[in-house]
Amino acid sequence: MKFANDFLFGAATASYQIEGAWNEDGKGVTNWDEFSKIPGKTFENTNGDVAVDHYHRYKEDIALMAEMGLESYRFSISWARIYPEGTGKINQQGIDFYNNIIDECLKYGIVPFITLYHWDLPLTLEKAGGWLNKTTAQAFVQYASTCFKAFGDRVKHFITFNETVVFCGHGYLEGAHPPGIQNDPKKYFQATHNVFYAHALAVLAYKELNLFGEIGLSNVFAPAFAIDEQQDNIFAANHANQYQLNWYYDPVLLGRYPEYVIERLEQQGYLPDWTLEELAIIKKAAPFNDFMGLNYYQPVRVEKLTGPVQSVELTRENATGRPGKPSFDHVYRSVMMDDKRYTKWGWEISPDGFVDGLDMLKQQYGQIKLYITENGLGDEDPIIDGDVRDTPRIEYISEHLSAVKQAIQHGVHIKGYFAWSAIDLLSWLNGYKKQYGFIYVDHNDNLARKKKDSFHWYHGIIQSRGQDL
Ligand code: BG6
Repeated sequence: MKFANDFLFGAATASYQIEGAWNEDGKGVTNWDEFSKIPGKTFENTNGDVAVDHYHRYKEDIALMAEMGLESYRFSISWARIYPEGTGKINQQGIDFYNNIIDECLKYGIVPFITLYHWDLPLTLEKAGGWLNKTTAQAFVQYASTCFKAFGDRVKHFITFNETVVFCGHGYLEGAHPPGIQNDPKKYFQATHNVFYAHALAVLAYKELNLFGEIGLSNVFAPAFAIDEQQDNIFAANHANQYQLNWYYDPVLLGRYPEYVIERLEQQGYLPDWTLEELAIIKKAAPFNDFMGLNYYQPVRVEKLTGPVQSVELTRENATGRPGKPSFDHVYRSVMMDDKRYTKWGWEISPDGFVDGLDMLKQQYGQIKLYITENGLGDEDPIIDGDVRDTPRIEYISEHLSAVKQAIQHGVHIKGYFAWSAIDLLSWLNGYKKQYGFIYVDHNDNLARKKKDSFHWYHGIIQSRGQDL
């Protein structure tokens, strides 16, 4: 089977992870500009001040993407370039920068796929309460509408938010992302609700403009599976899916929150403060949400917790994907299993979990339109005689694209695949050690770009529309 001609083969990045130029051309300061400079927060105290300098090298980077045959490029807009203070005065130089990126993509026939929020919040808004403050949702809609009007003539795909579970979870439970708060479920659930509300408002605002494009949201897709057939563990997996999956998919796709979670949050006193009007907006927007973006890296293997819970020290590794932590409510924990494969950072490699998860999603939500908006391998790529031999990445993407093929054959409605990432970039907490790109960036040689083996391989896959996978 070949992938259909309207299936988009793409790759993705995010503003903070590639742009640099953190204080140039009128850009405001963001939460990440501040947070990453707190000693010990990131691996080797790396930050995005320069990142891979895409701000100045975007022409070279997009030319390479075109050479690779990329059909679509998913990138994010830094809110603080458009509104340095989050709201108020627009910074025209920010608009110009993204117009240049879009036009450069279109010059090569690359479809621009825009994420409006990939975690870099203008610092002024963070200081005013960030996602706990409902005015942030209003500010988001203003910012989003400005982007729709400025770019919507040429950009036909908008993602409102990237991975709400990550920036809210890391922000208010693990304390690993700004605002760095630990173990505060009340705040965590409040922040998620404010984000869903902001998403809904943005969807409605977009549709009012009649720009004839599509809008959706990108969620983490980490389906939970029980480690065995025991009833307790099956219960734990269902519980995990309710909290980690349905809580994030239901409001966007169905316009309501899952009853199972609501009941428990009510008992525990963690129910967000929401108004009937906000719930009505979430309901109203759901039918207008055009697609769901899935960021799949790994499934979760879960085991029911029994007896007293051993507290696990939070490290950068288990805060960012390595299994081992108990859930916030101490109902289950994620585990590593002897018969599974893992990356160097302890992330499970499971194309089968991908197919099973996609089948489960179809069962629950029907044939919704999906894009795989992230999938890829974080690795330390070997350099042999000057060439970047990233064979494990080729294997990883090949296996996962085959999984996408299988899911399509099962009737799952997937319209595109975006590898993470187009080019090596700054990992939020893992610095430059963990690489994901098709294009290598040499930090010892003025950030020179170099094509990896996977660059040529992906080119071939796109050319043949994945026929040989
Ligand atoms: C996703 C994010 O969660 O995972 C990306 O959307 C991120 O921004 C990617 O880079 C990989 O995460 P990490 O921790 O390996 O850099």
